[in-house]
Amino acid sequence: MIARTSQYINGLQLKNRIVLPPMASGKAHNGEVTEELIQHYKKYTDSGVGLIIIEHSYINKEGRASEHMLNACPDNRENLRKLSEALNKEDVPVFMQLNHAGAMTNPELTGGRVLSPSGVAAKRDGAEQNPAVMTKEDIQELIQDYVEAALCVKEAGFDGIELHSAHGYLLNQFYSPLTNQRTDEYGGDLTNRLRIHVEMIRAVRKAVGEDYPLMVRLGGCDYTEGGSTIEDAVKAAQILEQEGVHAIDLSGGMVGWKNPGTNFPFGYFQDMSWQVREAVGIPVMLTGGITTLAQAETLLAERYCDLIGVGRALLENADWMKEQPQYNAA
Ligand SMILES: Cc1cc2nc3c(=O)[nH]c(=O)nc-3n(C[C@H](O)[C@H](O)[C@H](O)COP(=O)(O)O)c2cc1C
Repeated sequence: MIARTSQYINGLQLKNRIVLPPMASGKAHNGEVTEELIQHYKKYTDSGVGLIIIEHSYINKEGRASEHMLNACPDNRENLRKLSEALNKEDVPVFMQLNHAGAMTNPELTGGRVLSPSGVAAKRDGAEQNPAVMTKEDIQELIQDYVEAALCVKEAGFDGIELHSAHGYLLNQFYSPLTNQRTDEYGGDLTNRLRIHVEMIRAVRKAVGEDYPLMVRLGGCDYTEGGSTIEDAVKAAQILEQEGVHAIDLSGGMVGWKNPGTNFPFGYFQDMSWQVREAVGIPVMLTGGITTLAQAETLLAERYCDLIGVGRALLENADWMKEQPQYNAA
């Protein structure tokens, strides 16, 4: 069974191909790790999965999306260490996802600006907000904050990081033509819309070291007229690979992770993932609607992806994997 075979992310060996994808638990308090949060993730260290990716965590206070979002800024390093120390005793690597919510930031919470590539209005909790346009100085400051957060996560003892560029958050807002209408070098064609990612990846790798595992969650396609396309996702993945990213985690762009644009009952983004997988040599992860190990096996065997994210099924039942009939089969 392929799902049970190991997979490398750069030099890091995962014992199998099933991943707990990042899922906001709502269990952080004022950005801090709580005992409840630790216990939540502890359940997954012996759940059978090969990799745990901790929920999206803010890289600066201005990028906070919600009250119970985790803080990945340097001022929270020692606190984050409590989480990594509680989890890293097992044979399951633990990554953390880094995020800035951009136009989806909650200003009542941050007291700061709501930033975006070009000021396109965004809906948050049903209400419209009109974000400010980021200056080039803002972009450089943002990159610096990502660097500091990435270093903080590494120093706090986590095994790798994932940059969140999906589901309509700030990096995705730069990638999508629906939300990036800039006329400078950070907008326009795909190379320009991905420039912020490339600059960030270079800066982060320089800080954390080239071997430190780095993934990108790419909301590769908007499945919407005028939005990003699967062709964009293929090209973007090639650029990210060239820049030294060690794995691509595919999800939706402005459509979010549920993908109303396709009707696949499982593996929502499979139409994109096989094309990306054919174009790159690094592992490709596919998440969305996968509820049985048999489905995961089909997608792996038919080469849609190298890794499978199982979100809600594991959220509902941390023993999901162990209870799958194939798990204990010879
Ligand atoms: C409660 C919840 C919280 C989520 N939080 C995040 C998150 O922090 N970062 C992220 O990239 N995706 C997030 N997602 C999306 C999941 O990672 C995953 O892509 C989605 O649940 C689809 O997979 P599934 O059908 O296996 O659940 C979240 C999903 C859920 C249900």
